[in-house]
Amino acid sequence: MSKKKAVTERRFRGITIPTKSHPAIRRIRRQGIEPSIHGDKFWGSSCLLIDYLHNNPPEHSKRVLDVGCGWGLAGIWCARELGSKVTSVDADADVFPYLQAAADINGVSTKQLVSRFEKLNKRTLAKYDMLIAADVCFWDDLVDPVSNLVNRAVSAGVKQILIADPERSPFFDVAERAMKRHCAEIVEWKTRSPIKSEGAILVVENA
Ligand SMILES: C[S@@+](CC[C@H](N)C(=O)[O-])C[C@H]1O[C@@H](n2cnc3c(N)ncnc32)[C@H](O)[C@@H]1O
Repeated sequence: MSKKKAVTERRFRGITIPTKSHPAIRRIRRQGIEPSIHGDKFWGSSCLLIDYLHNNPPEHSKRVLDVGCGWGLAGIWCARELGSKVTSVDADADVFPYLQAAADINGVSTKQLVSRFEKLNKRTLAKYDMLIAADVCFWDDLVDPVSNLVNRAVSAGVKQILIADPERSPFFDVAERAMKRHCAEIVEWKTRSPIKSEGAILVVENA
């Protein structure tokens, strides 16, 4: 009986998303590099973010900050499809070899920054037009850091903030706080093909 060949990559809205079976990803794993705060794969919420941006082209997307980037595919999509200058930020330095592989596969590059949400100050945030994040509200302990990041980004003048999530409860706490303080809404979002994903996007408009 012939063995089924593993899927090594998938196409989504113009970019290539490597799977854990992709030779470039396997090479990094063989070096023993293992992200430790859940940045160990491409998460479905990134598809929500990419699809939302694909359907709602942003007005201000020259400089994009992708926070809690993991493998960085949402930022890579902005670099490739919107021509954005992207900074990819994560607290875990071990995500970056994977992000670099994904960026190379897509023929783009993004600036890499190791930082926690809490350390991104207003001076840094003021350099960006749009802040994006996917699946960064996965623990109750993340509600304060993510909410405070949104507050600082708004007061730094970041024009649009988008946080996609599979609708975990800490996300709704972040969203509720944002809706009380800013011009923000929750948009339900779903993708069917070629990758299925479902959840919501917190959209903060600050233009
Ligand atoms: C569930 S993964 C999502 C990764 C990527 N956005 C995606 O959708 O594929 C969450 C990411 O947030 C990062 N992270 C968690 N806490 C963080 C913090 N306090 N500051 C910055 N990054 C953080 C993790 O290292 C991880 O890469």
